[in-house]
Amino acid sequence: MPWEDLKKICLSRVHHKPERKPLIKEREVELMDKQEWYASLFDRLGEYWAEIAEARSTEKEVEFIENAVRPKGLVLDLCCGTSRHSILLRAKGRKVIGLDLSPNLLRIAKRKMVLEGVSFPLIRAEMRFLPLKEEILAVVINMFTSFGYLPTEKEDMKSLREVARTLKRGGAFLIDVVNPEHLIQVFQKKDWAEFAHFYLLERRTLDPKRMRLFSQWIVLDKAGNKARTFDHNLRLYSLPQLREMLKKAGLAVKKTYGDYEEQRFRSVSPRLIVLAEKK
Ligand SMILES: C[S@@+](CC[C@H](N)C(=O)[O-])C[C@H]1O[C@@H](n2cnc3c(N)ncnc32)[C@H](O)[C@@H]1O
Repeated sequence: MPWEDLKKICLSRVHHKPERKPLIKEREVELMDKQEWYASLFDRLGEYWAEIAEARSTEKEVEFIENAVRPKGLVLDLCCGTSRHSILLRAKGRKVIGLDLSPNLLRIAKRKMVLEGVSFPLIRAEMRFLPLKEEILAVVINMFTSFGYLPTEKEDMKSLREVARTLKRGGAFLIDVVNPEHLIQVFQKKDWAEFAHFYLLERRTLDPKRMRLFSQWIVLDKAGNKARTFDHNLRLYSLPQLREMLKKAGLAVKKTYGDYEEQRFRSVSPRLIVLAEKK
C-alpha cells in the first residue's frame, strides 16, 4: 500500500510523512515511556527479541491466520513487533499495515521487509490510540501474547474498543494469548533457552488470584557482554473474561482455538486464540 493510500485511512490530526515524525500521540507516549515498563521492554530487547520471534514457526502461524480469517481487505498487524506475520501475509498478496510501539522493532521490521522484497506501511503508535479512521479495516490480528501489558484492565479494554472502532462491520479480530489454565498446570519457576547469539534464562512468578505472570528475563550474550535483565509483567485473561471484554467492545466471539493446528480450545490448550467479529 503506497503512502498516499495510508493518508486516506489515517486520522488527519496524526498525518506525518513516513520518514519524519511517527504516527503517535506524542505526549501520551512520552509520558508512558517514562512510566511504563512495557513501553521500553521490547524496545530494549531489540535484536534479542527479533531472534526469539524468528525461532517461532511463523509460516505455520500465518497459514493458521489465513485459514481462520481468510483476509480479503486491509489487515492490521496490531503490536506487529518485527512484522514477521505481516511480511509473510504481504508476500502472499494481502494488503497489510504493521503497528507497534517500539521504534527499534519497527526498524528491524523495515530491514526485514527490504530483505524479503515487500513493502507496506509501518506505524509507530499505541494500541489504545490507533491513529486510523473508523471502519476501514477488514481484519485485525494481535499475535503471540501482545495483550495484557497495559497498566490496568480498563486500559486493555480501551485497546479493544479501538479495534472495534477501526474494524468494518463484519470485520474479524484474531487475538492470540497464553491460556492461563494451561500455564497453571505446567508452571515452571525457572527455564532457559539457547538462541544463536545468547542464552535466555527466565525466572517466573505466577499469581493466579490476580491473574498475573511476572517474569525476569536474563540475557547472556555469547559475545561475552554483561548479562542484561528485563522484567516482564503480564495480565492473564481466561476465555470467559476475554469473551466479556470483547462483547463490551462490540466484538462477538465466533470461534476459539487452542493452538496453531486449529484444535478447538480446551482447558489444556497452550494458547487461547479467539476469533471475534465486529457486530
Ligand atoms: C510479545 S511481542 C509480539 C510481537 C509480534 N506480534 C510477534 O508475534 O512477533 C509484543 C509486542 O507488543 C508491542 N507492544 C507492547 N505494548 C504496546 C502498546 N501499548 N502499543 C503498541 N504496541 C505495544 C511490543 O513493542 C511488542 O512488539
